Amino acid sequence: MANNIKYFIGNWKMFGVPKSISILDKINKFIKSDKKFNKKYKIVVTPPHTLLQSYSKFFLKKIISIGAQNCYHKDNYGANTGAISPLMIKSVGAQYIIVGHSDNRSEGDTDAMLKSKVENSLNNKLKVVFCIGENKEHKLNNKTFEVLENQIKNVLEEKFNFNNIIIAYEPIWSIGTGQIPEADDLLKTTIFIKKILKNIFKKKYLPVVLYGGSVDGKNIKRFKKLNEIDGFLIGGASKSDKNFIDIIKNYYR
Ligand code: PGA
Repeated sequence: MANNIKYFIGNWKMFGVPKSISILDKINKFIKSDKKFNKKYKIVVTPPHTLLQSYSKFFLKKIISIGAQNCYHKDNYGANTGAISPLMIKSVGAQYIIVGHSDNRSEGDTDAMLKSKVENSLNNKLKVVFCIGENKEHKLNNKTFEVLENQIKNVLEEKFNFNNIIIAYEPIWSIGTGQIPEADDLLKTTIFIKKILKNIFKKKYLPVVLYGGSVDGKNIKRFKKLNEIDGFLIGGASKSDKNFIDIIKNYYR
């Protein structure tokens, strides 16, 4: 079963200075004025940590929500040079957080670290966008489902608040490459991920699963029919107001 809300989450990665807020302001003005835009669509942007406070303040009562891209695996305060905890992120107004992006996994994030990031973020009432995805080799060796299942089961637990967990399925081979999965494969994978999540969280649970990897204003039309997909995690294209707006409007028009 699919959800009613569709998410468009922009991941700015290492991009942005204070004046880049004009990009988001233009997106916000567009969605405010576009009659076809409605509450079914949720727009979130994750700028770098340096911009979280000013952007969160600016967008406090507006349509766009602000999130962080990562956090340290320990919470509160500590003797960890350069580290930023979920408590610190929440304290400056962020509402969402990306955890487990393949960029961070490749830089050393282990499942144990990710579990603690997810748990600490949830404890601070942040909505977690937990990223999973296979690499090219896994895909070629038909290991995709096995890899995804392990990535989920090694981190998520029944005791976690599933209402605040969003999964972003991002095949590593599609991030920044212009390659996107075949519609059939994507549908099967999304359904598989939802099945795993339902087994963990049980009850009456409607998993939220996004797709991420090379989404742009053109290929977004191909995703329209895949109602099981509850939205998108958008990297490169989220750094331009025109590209981000194209994605949103080409999806719902
Ligand atoms: P991309 O990045 O849209 O540039 O492929 C997606 C991501 O890394 O989250």
